[in-house]
Amino acid sequence: MEVVIRDSREAAALFVAKTIADMVRRKPHIVLGLATGRTMEPVYAHLVRFHREDGLDFSLARTFNLDEYVNIPPEHPQSYRAFMDRTLFDLINIDRRNTRVLNGLAVDANAECAAFEQEIADCGGIDLQVLGIGRSGHIGFNEPTSSFASRTRIKTLTPETLRQNAPLFGGERNVPRHVLTMGVGTILESGRCLMLVTGAEKAEVTAAAIEGPLTSMVTASALQLHRRATFVLDREAATKLKQRDYYEWVYANKPHWERPA
Ligand code: GLP
Repeated sequence: MEVVIRDSREAAALFVAKTIADMVRRKPHIVLGLATGRTMEPVYAHLVRFHREDGLDFSLARTFNLDEYVNIPPEHPQSYRAFMDRTLFDLINIDRRNTRVLNGLAVDANAECAAFEQEIADCGGIDLQVLGIGRSGHIGFNEPTSSFASRTRIKTLTPETLRQNAPLFGGERNVPRHVLTMGVGTILESGRCLMLVTGAEKAEVTAAAIEGPLTSMVTASALQLHRRATFVLDREAATKLKQRDYYEWVYANKPHWERPA
């Protein structure tokens, strides 16, 4: 696992955006796994800028989003479909038919999740999965105790996650209790994982994910099993790492051709 530490929130987001852009340039038919959340907003803003200023071309790219709320229509401003349209898809030249977000209104949630898995497989798998981390240590909406072998499925959110999301929905009782999420096992099958974490409030859980034991109580720790996972942190998110100096030393001594940004 690689740990990259940048001086600021902005620099960490730029690093992730440049890494994504680099992969899109190298493989125009790329299959991207995308994440939502505030952490991702500056990353997508950079991708939009690269598209406008440098002609970064998404016309052949396909995307699969990690998760979606159940019983929230796509046009609801807090749906992850709306988030993706607003922050990225409407602002770049991607073919909307190639952007797949789970349908939270599906009558048969199990069939929807199975179809999603099949579509990923039909595309040859996800080349690059972008990830954020929740305060409970979750990736996607794989709340604590999600199996490392799990596939895309319906999940019940923890009260902690409901509380976190309450301001966005105008109160806790309006927050959907169920979600559809890619499984940990699905995420682990992607070719590369790129996790971005910024801010002091996530320092503890990030250290648990990187340096703690493999445990389904912190589903991000599953990335320790991935053959190519990179954690990109700002300084604040890195404060609880025991091996921080070592990670910086490794990065400083990396051959220049391996440094994407
Ligand atoms: C939600 C999403 C996660 C995301 C997390 C963190 O739980 N399902 O994919 O990583 O929020 O969000 P933020 O970046 O806003 O802290």
